[in-house]
Amino acid sequence: MKTTDILIVAAVGAIAFCSCKVTNDPVEKKVESVLKTMSLEEKAGQMVQINLDMVYDQYTQTVITDKLDYFVGEKKIGSFLNVPGGHCPDPAEMTKFISALQQKSMETMGIPTIYGLDMIHGSSYYADATIFPQEVNIAATFNPEFAAAMGKSIGYETRAGMVPWTFSPVMDLSRNAAWPRNWESYGEDPLLQSVMASTETRAIQGEDRNNIDQFHCAVSIKHYLGYGAPATGKDRTPAYIDYPTLREKYFAPFKACIEAGALSLMVNSASINGIPMHANYELLTKWLKEELDWDGMIVTDWADINNLYTREYIAKDKKDAIRIGINAGIDMIMEPYDADATDLICELVREGKIKKSRIDDAVRRILRLKVRLGLFDAPVWDAQQYTEYGCREFADASYRAAVESEVLLKNENKVLPLNRNSRILVTGPNANTMRALNGGWTYSWQGSDNLEYGERFNTILEALQKEFTNVTYIPAISYDEAYGQWQNEFVSSFEPAVAAARNSDVIVVCLGENTYCETPGNIDDINISENQTALVKALSSTGKPIVTILNEGRPRVVREIERLSSAVVDIMLPGNYGADALADLLSGDENFSGKLPFTYPKYPNSIHTYDYKVSENQTTMEGAYNYDAKMDVQWEFGHGLSYSNFEYSDLTVNRTCFKTDDTLEFCVKVRNTSGRSGKESVLLYSSDMVASRVPDVRRLRAFEKVSLEPGEEAVVKLRIPASELAFVGTDCKWTLEEGDFRISAGNQAITIHCNKTKIWEGPNRQ
Ligand code: BGC
Repeated sequence: MKTTDILIVAAVGAIAFCSCKVTNDPVEKKVESVLKTMSLEEKAGQMVQINLDMVYDQYTQTVITDKLDYFVGEKKIGSFLNVPGGHCPDPAEMTKFISALQQKSMETMGIPTIYGLDMIHGSSYYADATIFPQEVNIAATFNPEFAAAMGKSIGYETRAGMVPWTFSPVMDLSRNAAWPRNWESYGEDPLLQSVMASTETRAIQGEDRNNIDQFHCAVSIKHYLGYGAPATGKDRTPAYIDYPTLREKYFAPFKACIEAGALSLMVNSASINGIPMHANYELLTKWLKEELDWDGMIVTDWADINNLYTREYIAKDKKDAIRIGINAGIDMIMEPYDADATDLICELVREGKIKKSRIDDAVRRILRLKVRLGLFDAPVWDAQQYTEYGCREFADASYRAAVESEVLLKNENKVLPLNRNSRILVTGPNANTMRALNGGWTYSWQGSDNLEYGERFNTILEALQKEFTNVTYIPAISYDEAYGQWQNEFVSSFEPAVAAARNSDVIVVCLGENTYCETPGNIDDINISENQTALVKALSSTGKPIVTILNEGRPRVVREIERLSSAVVDIMLPGNYGADALADLLSGDENFSGKLPFTYPKYPNSIHTYDYKVSENQTTMEGAYNYDAKMDVQWEFGHGLSYSNFEYSDLTVNRTCFKTDDTLEFCVKVRNTSGRSGKESVLLYSSDMVASRVPDVRRLRAFEKVSLEPGEEAVVKLRIPASELAFVGTDCKWTLEEGDFRISAGNQAITIHCNKTKIWEGPNRQ
């Protein structure tokens, strides 16, 4: 028997404090030399970003010269975004448009424009790029290798279309299961989110953030801060998050990415605690620019400056909104359909309502980004050099990520893997659609163009037909593909499916959601649709085993379906190779190793995260009403089964009594006791037993995925600085209190003791 030693350092904890400003003389000299020649109008133009459609003619599919003269020549606009006319271009088409923009920008001001696109899971706005599983799936792999692979592919393929800037990664802690953007980020946990997002950031940007080469892009980490926890679950609606929690949990991934070199950041559209984020001086300027000493650039989200007066009513008009936003710390205004912000900025400066020094600071940050991207020297570059575009290596990584991301939630009586000759009925609305496999931000904003571009990939039905010999397909329910109608379902009689089920050995029912993105994805009811529940009920009358496949961007409540299913697999949004991965997993060619990166709710009114406060879960308090606040979720964060069995033993630590500046090294043995090789993500949790602020029931502190052959045992070492066990107190300071901590991994647990309280000033714990 082989013993493997694996040493892991929890990525976030290991980062030593450093200034996030990397002073680089050549970069700064260039910035200053450009800045000193600029007029106020030119500076204002740099601070505004418009949509390509403002200068693009969708009939001739070209850039319109007089529009370019106006927006770039006259208004000095310094940045563009989006794809032409909402359709999905290829890199050659983007190259054509961007070359025209760059030529005009360089002629007019000698300053290149900067072009940004939402490349969310791969270069997902190009027709033929490599599409990866969405971030929520990458999180479920618990394997940062895939965040690195996706980042590498995004950096490379995005550049192939002359675009040097991507509005990703997304790192909103998804803490409300109904929120329609859950799938865009790496789940509900701050550590998982931080490790994955900072890994992706490094991979997109490459090694040297002062000299990004032509195979990497700048990131725009988003959406700062607290976007993923709207109280109502509806997109762009207010969140109410106490400051200690903002600092301790929501800030963590942004801080990790900024320390990893992130060059720009996009702001949350909504408000926190009554202050729209676009107006929040403390969180934008103090936390980011001052405390972290970050020299990167802050861009608004889509038209959000306007929302300060049209939606949030904290400004009386547009000019007032711009004043508030820029003074709060906004550097670039994404103002898709108007250039009047440039004039308003100039007026505000002339009236003394925005200081010239604030404008210079914003423009420096924008110019710095352009210099770091090499755009002054090469506003366009050789489009022929991208010979690896859409290559096998990227596609393989996408397939492997899908395999490691799909989560086996239930497998009663070992109904899976399926016998290759079983008679299989495939049914349900998600069985034969590429659109649902990919989700939003795929070929178009709402993901509705998958029919056209996803053609060459396999739907679940197609992949199962290739893998198994005896497959019958009766959809019973299908989605309305009309634009904006994603929630509508067409239902036919269930009888044909039920009849076919009677003649089958097993039913694979593919359920979930059609695609959506942002506000159009809002829902009033987190239950899975009534039609889908009714279909499973009808099928269950046959007594045949049901394998339920959940293909969804957020956990829809499936309590009744789960009861009737022998197996449940949550494939979330696994991308173009997601169905191939599923077929290989169902047949047993591949083994499951994904784990949930979020808590799967059981009831619509009982939405929890795994790190709930201890007092949220109370046993019955006897009295007139027998008050009961028992935690009851469908599946816990970190849940995920495998065809292998893993046994944990001998959790040990290098010191049971520790000081706040110690490094703690935990070891745990994990053994594969089955006859199948498999992978296991070892998750190390801590629980603060008594604290002056009500403690979280547990927190993930480190994780590592190991691969084990049958009978193999590994000693997994997980190392974290003791300071990682601190929490943020009500005074907003990091605090590690004297007392006991329970540390657990698998079914193993030990208690360790902190011998002295320590409080840190500032955002860092060194
Ligand atoms: C979204 C952002 C996106 C931006 C630009 C907004 O509606 O909230 O995530 O980056 O549009 O497309």
